[in-house]
Amino acid sequence: MDKKRNAANNYIEKYKNLAVKTSLQPALHFTPPLGWMNDPNGLIFFNGHYHLFYQYHPYETKWRQMYWGHAVSDDLITWRDLPIALAPSESYEDSPEGGCFSGTALEHEGMLYLFYTAVARNAAGDLVQKQCAAMSEDGLHFSKYENNPIIQTDHLGNENSHFRDPKVWKHDNTFYMLVGVSQDQVGKLALYKSENLFDWTFVNIVFEEPGGWMLECPDFYELDGQEVLTFSPVGIKGEYSTYLIGKMDYQEGVFHVESRGILDYGVDFYAPQTFLSTNGERYVIGWQNGWEWMDEWNGFGALTENNWCGAMSMPRRVSIRNKQLYSTIPDQVTALEGAQIIINDTQTNGYLKKVTEIQTPSIIELSLKSGESPITLMFKDQRTGMEDRFIIEDQLRYHSNENPLGRKTLTMPLAKKENRVKIILDLYSMEVFAEGEGTVLSVNSFFKGACEREFSFSCCEDDRIEKLVVTKLNAKRLITG
Ligand code: FRU
Repeated sequence: MDKKRNAANNYIEKYKNLAVKTSLQPALHFTPPLGWMNDPNGLIFFNGHYHLFYQYHPYETKWRQMYWGHAVSDDLITWRDLPIALAPSESYEDSPEGGCFSGTALEHEGMLYLFYTAVARNAAGDLVQKQCAAMSEDGLHFSKYENNPIIQTDHLGNENSHFRDPKVWKHDNTFYMLVGVSQDQVGKLALYKSENLFDWTFVNIVFEEPGGWMLECPDFYELDGQEVLTFSPVGIKGEYSTYLIGKMDYQEGVFHVESRGILDYGVDFYAPQTFLSTNGERYVIGWQNGWEWMDEWNGFGALTENNWCGAMSMPRRVSIRNKQLYSTIPDQVTALEGAQIIINDTQTNGYLKKVTEIQTPSIIELSLKSGESPITLMFKDQRTGMEDRFIIEDQLRYHSNENPLGRKTLTMPLAKKENRVKIILDLYSMEVFAEGEGTVLSVNSFFKGACEREFSFSCCEDDRIEKLVVTKLNAKRLITG
């Protein structure tokens, strides 16, 4: 049964050096040891460590049959790779286009349970999705539940090819599971309940979204005395990670929505999941890519040539203010701040001013007084001429001169005229935080070879910029093996 997992682990051991080309890896963001990675799965603190599982295919840098990769951390920043947790070893999950799809982790009576979607072809040859469980005593070795799958059909009794990504939690001594399901082209979230984690009964459809045909990777948690439901809708243009704040009615099986928003305004943040930290904080991590930009129709620049593809976002601390979900840069990241370049000469007179060569990872911090005049922050690769611009007016706009395959200008609302914008810059990624609004826009900028980035800015009103600082982040390089 463990043959497939052992084979994959041996393969990674043998070839992982091919992917470790340090200057061509993000210094701060989690990347897989080798091969392809997408969604974060089963984020949990268990046995003294934070565990990150993820959608993984070790043998190629493309999405293929899915495994669950595994890494642990003590601070959510520095990760140590562990052997693969789940391999698609069973007949109910062994299709080449299937495998062990996304899900969650839960601790119960000292054991770690993983819930995931098994994907294989049925007798009629259709790829179908079923919910499964696996468990572990030590958080390292997992065995699949002998009576898998635990949920075979959707609530209409059909084997369904879009019925996936279980999120499991405990409430008032009962276990609940949310599963994304598509019926008649409508994306829905189905709620189940169980007393023992293995026998599940359908409660109701708690939420449906007619604008999207599938709702992927739900997460559900209590935060600041309220309840938050998140998912990644498929089919809503420009919306890749949605949050709802409201109240779950467990009796009726309905989530009463009080407000709705977007977790990230960029294109490179998908399938977010959260950690509950040891001191009760919530941290969200997303896959720092998106299907729209997948290799088949876009390309990930040099990544695939370097034998790895896919990164996780930095963890973001989430909280609720005024019925909105606020994402902020957590202390674990600011603790890495090192040398600073304070830019006090703001006499730019409207032209773009070269400021400095920039190293990654860094944080660019811009504090703005109220005013009308737009401000542009620009990163330019001297070798290729590739430019990434952030233009701050009544909203923040991102524009790239490369615009691969019709990449459009992205925008993020900026409610106030005063603001503090911080950009976490790593090798291929830019995560822009508007601190006043608690919003984020994530976008990747892929290039080949080493990058020589130059940072410049412009502003017509000289005294609008209160502070502009470039701070190097002292990344602890990821420990592998
Ligand atoms: C989201 C997703 C999930 C699925 C997984 C497969 O990115 O499509 O719905 O479980 O990826 O890797």
